Amino acid sequence: MPDPTSDPLSTPALDLPVRPRRLRSPLLRPMLQRVALRRRDVIVPVFAVGGAGVRREVASMPGVYQMSVDVALDWLAARAEEGFGAYLVFGVVDRHTKDDVGSPALDPDNVVCRLLREARERKLPMAGVTDLCFCEYTSHGHCGPLTADGSTVANDATVARLVAQAVNHARAGAGVIAPSGMMDGTIKALRRGLDAAGFADVALLAYSVKYASAFYGPFRDAADSAPSFGDRRAYQMDPARGTDEAILEASLDVDQGADMVMVKPAGAYLDVIRAVREQVRVPVVAYQVSGEYAMLEAAARNGWLEHDRAVLESLVAIKRAGADLIITYYAELLAKLVER
Ligand code: PBG
Repeated sequence: MPDPTSDPLSTPALDLPVRPRRLRSPLLRPMLQRVALRRRDVIVPVFAVGGAGVRREVASMPGVYQMSVDVALDWLAARAEEGFGAYLVFGVVDRHTKDDVGSPALDPDNVVCRLLREARERKLPMAGVTDLCFCEYTSHGHCGPLTADGSTVANDATVARLVAQAVNHARAGAGVIAPSGMMDGTIKALRRGLDAAGFADVALLAYSVKYASAFYGPFRDAADSAPSFGDRRAYQMDPARGTDEAILEASLDVDQGADMVMVKPAGAYLDVIRAVREQVRVPVVAYQVSGEYAMLEAAARNGWLEHDRAVLESLVAIKRAGADLIITYYAELLAKLVER
C-alpha cells in the first residue's frame, strides 16, 4: 500500500455524494445568503440631554454620544436620510432634579417629550419609540418607586406611574412605547390607559424578555441610571433560568396587547430569541446592548478583532436567530456597510 501523503497526486478521490464546498465558490456563495441585514431592520438609540449644542461622548461607549435635543435631531435627520425608520429615545436628566419617585419622568417638558415634539414639528420621517422606565429619573436608580420598607421596586405603583409617563410620550408624538422596567401587568395597564386617553394607535413594544445582565454596564454610564444600592435581580430575569420563562413573559405580554416583543441582551441570548420567535406571532425585536457594543469596540481598538466584519457577524447572528428588528448602536456604520 503506497503512502498517499508522500505523493498527493496519488490520493484517491473520496467517494462523497455531497460536497458542501461546491457551493462556496465566489459566484454561488453570495447568491445563497438568506439572512439579510438591512438598514430598515434597525432601531437607532439616542441619549437626549438638556441644553443646546451638547455632544458628549460616553466614556465606556466610544462613538456614542449624549446629545441635546437640537444636536440629536440633526443627527437623526441624517439617519433618516440613510434609510433608518425608527429611533429609541432615552432621557438623561440632571442628577439634582431626581427624587425617590422619579418625578422628572412625568414632566411633560422633559428632554424626551421635547425631542418627540420637535421631531414632529420638523416632520422627521422616523417613528419615535420611547424607553418607558424610571431608572434614569430616580435618585436611587431603580426602575420605579420603592416599597414602604425600601427593599425593592413597588410593582403596581410603578405601573400606574408608567401609564402617566406613556400618555405624556404619546401626547408629545411617540409612535411606539417600549416599557423596559419588567413590572408585571405593565402592558395591560398601558393599553387601557393609552386607549382611554385617545391613543389607540400608539403601538406597544414590550421589553418582555429582559435579563439581569452585566452587559448593561456602559448604558448606565450613558443614561446615568446605575442603581445606588443592590441590583435589578428582583425584577429582571435570571440568565440561568431557561427559555420557558422567556416564553411565559412574551406570551403574557402578547395576551395583554403587546404589538411587538423584545429580547435583551441579544448576542448571549440567541437561543432565547429563537425560542420566542417560534412561540409568538408578533414581530420580535432584539437589543444588542451597550456591553455588546463595548466589547466589540474594545477588542477592535486593541487590534484584536477586525472591526467591521466582527460587527456584521454579530448582527447577522441576531437576525439568523429570528429577530425581525434589531436595536443597535451601529447605525452609522451600517449606513456604510449594508443596503437599505
Ligand atoms: C432601562 C434600560 C436599560 C437598558 C435599556 N433600557 C438599563 C437597565 O435595565 O439597567 C440597557 C440598554 C443597553 O445596555 O444598551 N431603562
